[in-house]
Amino acid sequence: MTAPAILVFDSGVGGLTVFREIKAALPGARYIYVADDAGFPYGDQPEDALITRILSVVGTAIAQFKPDLVVVACNTASTVALARLREKFSVPFVGTVPAIKPACAQSLSRRIAVLGTQATVRLEYTKALIREFAAGCDVDLVGSSHLASYAEAELSGNPVADDLIEAQIVPCFVDAKGRRTDAVVLACTHYPLLTARYKKMAPWPVDWIDPAPAIARRVVDLIGANTGDEPPPSQRLVFTSGRVPPPHLATALKAFGF
Ligand code: DGL
Repeated sequence: MTAPAILVFDSGVGGLTVFREIKAALPGARYIYVADDAGFPYGDQPEDALITRILSVVGTAIAQFKPDLVVVACNTASTVALARLREKFSVPFVGTVPAIKPACAQSLSRRIAVLGTQATVRLEYTKALIREFAAGCDVDLVGSSHLASYAEAELSGNPVADDLIEAQIVPCFVDAKGRRTDAVVLACTHYPLLTARYKKMAPWPVDWIDPAPAIARRVVDLIGANTGDEPPPSQRLVFTSGRVPPPHLATALKAFGF
């Protein structure tokens, strides 16, 4: 049996937080990771431009790599374009959408925050998730224009000062009407790269909710746990800019097996 090919797509290195969970669950699959760094960041771009770009980049990758499954490891791309991708291509897609349902289900204080890109928190898709799954729970939407770039910078060996990161997460912490935030949904796949930093500077402890394990379970459901008996070939990472990763990033990528 040939190992299935799984294409993982993001605007940058954030989708690696999803990729590592999928790979841990399915070590025998073949992986192609496409980072659309030439289009990064997605989070501040208008919807129409993003849809056109995502359909084009993912379409090119599907034609080139012929994957058995595509994981859109990007909340922004999923909230804006998942429906269009499914319409246009016959390969199965797994998307990444803000984990509002599990966060509300586990919140004891009944107040959660959703920390995402400006696009993700603005989009109707996210508001519909709140209407559907957040009954009885206060949800504070917090859009960040900088956090994904900070995560990219850190992985590339350019440290970001604590106060800059703190300024992005502080609006998530709300204490009002007797309800204090007890869970923060990480609604951008770049953000879990910095979770240790958030924990250090949080005004009070909260659960930081990373959807990656749930996405990996969904991939296993679709592909099946048995990914073949051949040794997996080496995995591949493609930057749409064509850049060769500078030394510090290359070392960081090695930790993900690239
Ligand atoms: N990783 C992407 C997400 O999950 C966003 C980063 C960007 O702004 O491009 O939303």
